[in-house]
Amino acid sequence: MNRRLCLARRPAGKLSATDLVLIDEPVPVPGPGEVLVRNTWLSIDPSIRIRLAETTPDGYLPPLRPGEPLTGLALGIVAETRDPAYAVGDLVSHTLGYREFAVVGAGSQTIGGYGAPARIDNGDLPPQWFLGPLGSAGLTAYVGLVEILELTAADTLWVSSAAGAVGALAAQLAALRGATVLGSAGSPEKVAYLRDELGIAAFDYHDPALAESLTALAPTGIDAYFDNVGGDHLTAALDALRPHGRVALCGAVSGYDGTAAVGPPNLFTMVAKGLRMRGFRAGSFNHLEQPMRAEIAGHLAAGRLIHRESVFDGIERAGEALVAMLSGATTGKTLCRLL
Ligand SMILES: NC(=O)c1ccc[n+]([C@@H]2O[C@H](COP(=O)([O-])OP(=O)(O)OC[C@H]3O[C@@H](n4cnc5c(N)ncnc54)[C@H](OP(=O)(O)O)[C@@H]3O)[C@@H](O)[C@H]2O)c1
Repeated sequence: MNRRLCLARRPAGKLSATDLVLIDEPVPVPGPGEVLVRNTWLSIDPSIRIRLAETTPDGYLPPLRPGEPLTGLALGIVAETRDPAYAVGDLVSHTLGYREFAVVGAGSQTIGGYGAPARIDNGDLPPQWFLGPLGSAGLTAYVGLVEILELTAADTLWVSSAAGAVGALAAQLAALRGATVLGSAGSPEKVAYLRDELGIAAFDYHDPALAESLTALAPTGIDAYFDNVGGDHLTAALDALRPHGRVALCGAVSGYDGTAAVGPPNLFTMVAKGLRMRGFRAGSFNHLEQPMRAEIAGHLAAGRLIHRESVFDGIERAGEALVAMLSGATTGKTLCRLL
């Protein structure tokens, strides 16, 4: 049988593991041009929480209906093939995560343009890196810094959710490119991780107030802000940005888990200071995957970039992994391993 994690009921407020349910179905059968993939690693990403609500923002993917399986980036091994381009045993990345088996074919969806089925040659590298630093998280961090912020070594950059999958990569890549970086996170342990292990100046966004922490670490202001959080963080960034500063809107996780991100109420500072703010989705920049992989793989191999994972074992723990990641209980890239 194939166990799939489905939406049991729409979460009322914060997601609870009981809002999700594992449902058995027969292992699906691939048709012509399709392959059956046995999933080995599931990427646990915040954005699926957006699709568990009654409605989703205009331009985003539609909400899931109760009973429908969750989707997400995943890696797996081809178990049966009806596509001559794939052989049994190939490692494949795709978007039909949160289940043990998936039928993957040319028509398989992307997530916002990212994640079309692809064979992965991981060589000596851990395969799950292709869901993290060499996959979506890496591309997102790279695009945000290089394309959206046009980061320079002269910049002082703030990265929010800096101990998370995207944030830790963005903060370290920016520092490696010569920028002055400060990162924020939600616990003293994460702040210690950023400071002591990643070498990034860091603060806990809970205490003291964001504006106070930013002033303490960047007394003359910041030039660029990599926004993973939205709401109060984005508001504080607009106040802290120097004239002609830039913002990359990567995500707004403070508004995903049952609460709507509030603000910013100070948008006029963009006019007053001539700021530039641009949202992006990594899937619009797939052409940058190769330069991203070359840069990040080089740093990983040389030990210049630290990558941490929070791993949950078994499909029965995928819901718990999602709840833990949204609540801040995980560090680095959150994954579910099905081996
Ligand atoms: N644009 C794109 O193409 C793209 C692609 C991938 C991801 N994203 C976005 O990038 C962001 C980070 O994703 P990720 O996969 O790297 O997740 P992550 O940072 O590894 O995990 C989410 C983190 O969000 C933090 N958080 C939760 N509620 C918060 C709140 N109210 N205020 C501040 N922080 C809060 C928690 O860390 P703390 O303990 O620090 O609170 C939690 O660990 C998300 O917004 C995601 O949607 C965008």
